[in-house]
Amino acid sequence: MGRSDATTAAASTRDRVTLHDLKPKLADMREEVLAGLTATPRRIAPKYFYDQRGSELFEAITRVPEYYPTRTEIGLLETHLEAIGSVLGRGDVLLEYGSGSSRKIRLLLEELRPLAYLPVDISREHLLEAARALAGDYPWLQVHAICTDYGNGLTLPWQPPRRQGVAVPITGFFPGSSIGNFERSHAARFLAGVRDTLGPGGQLLIGVDRRKAKARLEAAYNDAAGVTAEFNRNILVHLNRALDGDIDVMAFRHRAHYDEEAGRIEMHLVAERALAFTLGGVEFEFAAGEAIHTENSYKYAPDEFRALAAGVGFDTVAEWTDAEALFSVFVLRGG
Ligand code: AVJ
Repeated sequence: MGRSDATTAAASTRDRVTLHDLKPKLADMREEVLAGLTATPRRIAPKYFYDQRGSELFEAITRVPEYYPTRTEIGLLETHLEAIGSVLGRGDVLLEYGSGSSRKIRLLLEELRPLAYLPVDISREHLLEAARALAGDYPWLQVHAICTDYGNGLTLPWQPPRRQGVAVPITGFFPGSSIGNFERSHAARFLAGVRDTLGPGGQLLIGVDRRKAKARLEAAYNDAAGVTAEFNRNILVHLNRALDGDIDVMAFRHRAHYDEEAGRIEMHLVAERALAFTLGGVEFEFAAGEAIHTENSYKYAPDEFRALAAGVGFDTVAEWTDAEALFSVFVLRGG
């Protein structure tokens, strides 16, 4: 390819990527984080894991041997790609909640050939990088990247075009069992919001981690290489930088355990000694052993998930699981 060709290709890639920046302001982040750290028990919302480094560390988690969800979900998408394509139909608009793994979205883009791809993510850098790479690799693809916290509802800054007088339907994709980060009641509210966002004819392809033996789950969140521990502690590195803090990150130990009855993994950061720090202009004191709750990761039995979906008017029209029954992929349709 000659120099002028390369220039033309790069320009057209840019033309096909639009960023809609609805990212919450720093003031909102400060307020939310300080409120959580003063609450009892102390907490930080898991969305703050995902600064640039956090997104990289999560990618690294998906490659540790103990963390089965990502590779199991990719296996399901690969194995059933044609079936997924015929259930969902081709040529719609594809909206991805939390545009993380490029492997999964590439499979879907190639199968579904959507008119436009709308990745939604809170990490602007990660979002743009991924959007540009995809637009570069798929010259037929329009990308509308939306930087926002999708947890509190999403109003689309871009509307699908009309085809023969009707709006092109939107297919949602919510992979990775990220729905597990919501409390069960919040998950229901979130799905109701997704129904509204997708509109009539909207469908959702969603990956959900299943309830299973405690040992298997706890291993997945306590990998031997310590990547999950570093991911967990990195939330404090992120806060130090964003909110001008001086937290001694290494004074905190990673803890993850499965609450079988609640069906959730809980992650905490535990202060190994008494300590004090300043964050966002506020001083904090921790006793030895005091913890910050950083994440819940809820697990769903398939019937439990179908009931949750049905409760907000979503019919489950297809579902797939792996031979070990670790993970499930569902297609939901507004009834
Ligand atoms: C991205 C929220 C699905 O809960 O398994 C992985 C995040 N935390 N290891 C999960 C995570 C620790 C992950 N989700």
